[in-house]
Amino acid sequence: MYPTIFIIFGVTGDLSQRKLIPALLSLYVKKMLPRKFSVIGFSRRHFSREDFRQYIRDNWSVKPGQYKEEDIKHFLDYVSYEQGFFDAPEGYKNLTAKLKSIDDSWGQCSNKLFHLATSPDFYEKILDAMAVNGLSVPCAGDNEGWTRILIEKPFGTDTDTAKKLDKKLAVLFDEDQIFRIDHYLAKESVQNLLTFRFSNQIFESLWNNEHIEKVHIKLLEKVDADGRGAFYDNFGALKDVGQNHVLQLLALIAMERPKTFNALNIRKERAKIVSHLRPIAKKQLTSQTVRGQYDGYTREEGVPANSQTETYFRIKSFIDSARWKNVPFYLESGKGLYENRSEIDVYFKVSKGSAPERGNILTFRIQPDEGIKIRFWLKTPGYGHAATNETESKSLKFQYADVPALAKLPDAYERVFHDALEGNQTLFTSSDEVIAAWKFITPIAENWKDIPLTVYKKGAKEI
Ligand code: BG6
Repeated sequence: MYPTIFIIFGVTGDLSQRKLIPALLSLYVKKMLPRKFSVIGFSRRHFSREDFRQYIRDNWSVKPGQYKEEDIKHFLDYVSYEQGFFDAPEGYKNLTAKLKSIDDSWGQCSNKLFHLATSPDFYEKILDAMAVNGLSVPCAGDNEGWTRILIEKPFGTDTDTAKKLDKKLAVLFDEDQIFRIDHYLAKESVQNLLTFRFSNQIFESLWNNEHIEKVHIKLLEKVDADGRGAFYDNFGALKDVGQNHVLQLLALIAMERPKTFNALNIRKERAKIVSHLRPIAKKQLTSQTVRGQYDGYTREEGVPANSQTETYFRIKSFIDSARWKNVPFYLESGKGLYENRSEIDVYFKVSKGSAPERGNILTFRIQPDEGIKIRFWLKTPGYGHAATNETESKSLKFQYADVPALAKLPDAYERVFHDALEGNQTLFTSSDEVIAAWKFITPIAENWKDIPLTVYKKGAKEI
């Protein structure tokens, strides 16, 4: 693998410490990083190199004993820090000089993987500064390194801001240099959705409105604002996870078979299905959506006392396509709920005369306990006859954890880095997908302002 420098803007933040640095450490231990690599963290605080390494050890999500101390030490030797303010030129100048000095010491122009892991308010400033310092320009020669950029969601705050950000990116980079992250796409159980659908003909032939009654997509979390109140309050559940993770799950469960399974065609089909979501008019919001806030949210740190931001949503949506005509897709997500459960339930229609609750359900469990389950009906053993209603529901179930060889699923962020290094964009969102998602979400978010919030108790099972 070609020598690579990872540059993380916003390295002291929660995401970097919980996900990004640990993912790089894991890839390092698995020997999946280039032999020559360097990680440069960029943030506002002042740190000496040693203090920075200590900060990482104090804040990252790596568990004691998870890795050998020797591996951790070696990994941290590759990590350094550059202090800078996102809106001031000095830091970027120093960063540029540092990148040059590493390249000089390696005697070649290395790959540069920039990662925007700051609050999205800073994205445009960082991109401008990168342009001024020539950081968006890849090395000149054919056999020299590339420059790529990873961007965290939320990508914009509505259709217009997303388009604006996209325009700026397009001035600085070619599309094949831009990696818009939706880490749900990189989860193993989510990647399996397409494989399962398109490799198992018994299901694919039933995958339409003739056989499917409804689909329910859930991303339920026990965790509350969890110290992220100030950030979260600007977005709310719909923009934080609805516009991206939940709609990506919808795309994978509902999209047409791509012409071939390459990044271009898969992204095209994902974008197409999201763009066919039927807009929800203001007058339909009360009948088709629920918008909730958990009791106590307004007392969270960083949250205004009069906040009207939702921490929960449920939306009944429809896709305007022949395949999905009249099939409701329920989209649901929230924080401060009874359990952690991300899953997709596909409800099959019942035969004529049967009670609606007697159908088959195919469940894709995204997390935790990743797996797949099918509910079916069998005759209750005994002296009844098949024609009577003496049936009971049972399930066929596969869980990754039950198969030792499959049990250790790679973390989504490892996959993000891995694929960005390889230049494979399948698990990253295209500009078309992001904009299609905002076009569906933006009017709902705007019109919701006039709809009262449903307050629910923390730990609620149903809202
Ligand atoms: C993030 C959201 O994108 O996804 C968080 O900003 C949410 O609010 C998280 O908790 C859920 O991701 P995961 O991988 O923990 O299910």
